[in-house]
Amino acid sequence: MKIAIAADHAGFRLKQSLVDRLEAQGHRVFDFGTNTADSCDYPEYAVEVSRSVASGETARGILVCGTGLGMCITANKVAGIRAVGPCDVTQAEMSRRHNDANVLCLGERTMDNRMIFDMVDIWLSTEFEGGRHARRLELIAELEGK
Ligand code: RB5
Repeated sequence: MKIAIAADHAGFRLKQSLVDRLEAQGHRVFDFGTNTADSCDYPEYAVEVSRSVASGETARGILVCGTGLGMCITANKVAGIRAVGPCDVTQAEMSRRHNDANVLCLGERTMDNRMIFDMVDIWLSTEFEGGRHARRLELIAELEGK
């Protein structure tokens, strides 16, 4: 799968672990930075990943900051993006089954690495169920003027 990924200074270490892990799993990873601990502004990174996913360049996006919150707020401003910041593996799975989430937001400072890896694995491997859930996503898309 083509996956866009980015982080700010508070998330770049976890991002690098995820890039290594995703590539080892055979995914094609588009890394939009950052790659240092120098302070930067998370919206600039969130928008790059979100535009990549919304345009179809990549199928999914993963964003990492200190909490995952700022990334999630920003990503959801881009039309076509359904970004989530799950608290556990069940939420990560359900965000795919019912919400067709296309961007996953994670917090390096607030989440356990083992749980993050489990969340990413299930989030990438779970399909959208469609049906009544598709109708609800259409209602969300209408809010974007579509
Ligand atoms: C950076 O200090 C921090 O605010 C950022 O990584 C993120 O947690 C914002 O939501």
